[in-house]
Amino acid sequence: MLKSAIEARAALAALDQAMRRIPNPHVLINAIPLLEAQASSEIENIVTTTDDLFRFAGDESAASDPATKETLQYRAALFAGFAGLATRPLSVSSAIDVCSIVKHREMPIRSRSGTFIGNPVTQKAVYTPPVGEAVIRDKLTNWQEFIHDARGLDPLVVMAIAHYQFEAIHPFDDGNGRTGRILNILLLVEAGIIQQPVLYLSRFIIEHKDEYYDRLLAVTKDGEWEEWILFLLEGLRATAVWTVRKIDAIHHLQERAREAIRSVTPGGPNADLLAVLFEQPYCRIANVMGACGVSRPTATGWLNSLVANGVLSDVKVGRERLFINVALVTLLTRAESEGGEAEPTLF
Ligand SMILES: Nc1ncnc2c1ncn2[C@@H]1O[C@H](COP(=O)(O)OP(=O)(O)O)[C@@H](O)[C@H]1O
Ligand SMILES: [Mg+2]
Repeated sequence: MLKSAIEARAALAALDQAMRRIPNPHVLINAIPLLEAQASSEIENIVTTTDDLFRFAGDESAASDPATKETLQYRAALFAGFAGLATRPLSVSSAIDVCSIVKHREMPIRSRSGTFIGNPVTQKAVYTPPVGEAVIRDKLTNWQEFIHDARGLDPLVVMAIAHYQFEAIHPFDDGNGRTGRILNILLLVEAGIIQQPVLYLSRFIIEHKDEYYDRLLAVTKDGEWEEWILFLLEGLRATAVWTVRKIDAIHHLQERAREAIRSVTPGGPNADLLAVLFEQPYCRIANVMGACGVSRPTATGWLNSLVANGVLSDVKVGRERLFINVALVTLLTRAESEGGEAEPTLF
């Protein structure tokens, strides 16, 4: 475990360094939580497309599909939890707040019995969490103490143990999985392991979904803590390595986009235009007007030229035009092994 923890810590430190180095961390601060939201929600069978997510990321109210709305709520909950860390330590009430935002309604601690994990059709339970609000609150208090008082344990190991503990308590009627995965990220931020909530751990979990469920159950049934902890440590390591690769690849894309922009904007490449195309990979004319302080005809002219250059692709949604940074979206969403980052094929 020590060996795995060291490897995961090194990978996360490299990620944290890379985030401090890149010229525009907002590219990742916008995109990674969106991808994390998608994967974490998909673990719960709430399935939406990255296309819809990026499209409605700037305007949640415009999304009509309930899965897209719920996934955007996940991101909102992650950001709210992250902001909350500035004023108070992680606690039971942070968990309640996060879950209430995820579910878009007040989520009190469970008071009714009948919650179980298992087959909803046959009603066969594989795990039945504790019953009774007082019991649940008592266990949550223990969880809250553990995440701050587990002195001598590596914060990554604390995260792994606390995640099992939280899921086993299963304090809410619904949303426990998503809330628990948001808490994982917040716990690492609070421990100073990462500065920004740019951990896409759910990507690993969804790729190993059966194992995730099996290992949670095996802790309860057979006390298999070590396997569980090693599983999440490997998840953290792999996720951090993946993200650092993406950061490097994004950097290359930005360099190329900068060159393309040079021929479009007078007086050299416009840095604000470059930033907005990467911060909002689904960009509207109004976004460019706002970011660059230019008129609609100027913004439209620039975007049209970038479409002609092949940097952006242009789609019409209703009366609106969306300009998509296809190379960036492809880079962020393409499934590939850890083996290396192929050069993006687009533009
Ligand atoms: N055997 C188990 N023991 C404890 N927790 C489990 C077990 N199996 C699955 N889980 C957790 O329960 C979550 C699902 O609970 P749920 O309240 O429906 O969350 P959500 O609405 O976010 O799906 C899973 O994502 C997982 O984290
Ligand atoms: Mg659920």
